[in-house]
Amino acid sequence: MSNLAILGGKPLRTKPFSPWPQYTRADIDRVVKVVESRHWGGFPVPSPHAAEFATRFAQLHGAKHALCLANGTVALLVAAQSLGLKFGDEVIVPAYTWDGTAVAILQVGAVPVFVDVDPDTYCLDPKAVRDAITPRTRAILPVHLAMRFADMNSLLAIAKEKNLLVIEDCAHAHGGQFQSRGAGAGGDAGCFSFQESKLMTAGEGGLVLTNRLDCYEGLQTIVNCGRPSLTDQCQGKFLGANYRMTELQAALLLGQLERWPELCRKRTRQAALLTQALSGLPQVRPLPPQAGLTRETIYNYVFQYRPKGPAPSRDLFVAALEAEGVPCDGRFYEPVYRSDLFFVTPQNSPQLVMGRDQPIDYSKCHCPVSERAAYQEAVWLPQFLLLGKESDLQEIVAAVEKVVSNLPELAKADPKLAGLKACSRALRAKMERAKNH
Ligand SMILES: Cc1ncc(COP(=O)(O)O)c(C=O)c1O
Repeated sequence: MSNLAILGGKPLRTKPFSPWPQYTRADIDRVVKVVESRHWGGFPVPSPHAAEFATRFAQLHGAKHALCLANGTVALLVAAQSLGLKFGDEVIVPAYTWDGTAVAILQVGAVPVFVDVDPDTYCLDPKAVRDAITPRTRAILPVHLAMRFADMNSLLAIAKEKNLLVIEDCAHAHGGQFQSRGAGAGGDAGCFSFQESKLMTAGEGGLVLTNRLDCYEGLQTIVNCGRPSLTDQCQGKFLGANYRMTELQAALLLGQLERWPELCRKRTRQAALLTQALSGLPQVRPLPPQAGLTRETIYNYVFQYRPKGPAPSRDLFVAALEAEGVPCDGRFYEPVYRSDLFFVTPQNSPQLVMGRDQPIDYSKCHCPVSERAAYQEAVWLPQFLLLGKESDLQEIVAAVEKVVSNLPELAKADPKLAGLKACSRALRAKMERAKNH
């Protein structure tokens, strides 16, 4: 019988890793208090817990204002509306990100223009950004991905030169600091998600940071069905809807914020050990250190599968690693233009056609670095793997070592063994549903 668990051998680890999300008695008490207060919702804006959380979150990131709202996709949508993005405006987004980054832009009537990422950070490549600017470009939307930041100094310089807005997608970057700026505080707005896998979570939730009073007032109006903001100094008029965060969510987030410094330090320490150990292994490469990272924040620990010569696919490698007992993913993201969730038609997105000599055709997009990361190279380990003991890391490294030492055997395996790891998002969702019913 094979040594590898995916081929019937004994898994290296059977114990689960640290649970996620984490909570304490204080979280339960805070939620109970909100329940007993009978003020569960988010009206008026901002409600007390949401206001307290927003103020403290803004301080952590060095921003003037913050507003809580329903989720991270809504954060991007509302920030774009508040900053005045209009039908047909072009917004430069990285191809390698969650679909929601681009979908939020489509939902305001603007046009996402996909550009490639840097091979060492998987974040927006400033040179590719410059090449993608057209007379219709209105904004740049960097995503600080997984454990790295987009090069904000370069992007802000381009934005200044070309008079563009900068909206940061910080769904992975809670508490991080790069080039001495807090995540989300460098441009016009920074958007966060508190969805369940995120570094601070209330199950669902989102937040926008901004240093601009006009933007902050616009956010308050748009999330609250168009009602005027508290200060209403800029007197912006917007069409709004109910995008409010509930008090129950905000109560949970206060506890998350309190625990964040300790968890962040732990992840950073453990990630450094993991990088050191993986650096000594063949066929894999940790992401190189990033200059300018003043406060590291790790949503997923990402390394690269770089086999020399003919070798099993990354999807099979990831499936083999997971069979050894290490939760991981390869197709965490696909280039959005190749994702089957990115179902874009002239009917649901007329801005791709109307007023243009040439309709936008996403099937013609080609971002080689994003495609290589998505289909051949990137290996994503969820952050909670870093929250346990040092022995957890030793087992992760031992599992990687075991798989890379058995690549020739894995290469002979049926590629179908990659299973879900080789599937698109929509297919995964169908198969997971089928498994659970
Ligand atoms: C990079 C990125 N942007 C945006 C979002 C959207 O956040 P939410 O799921 O809270 O709507 C996510 C969440 O998964 C994300 O990872």
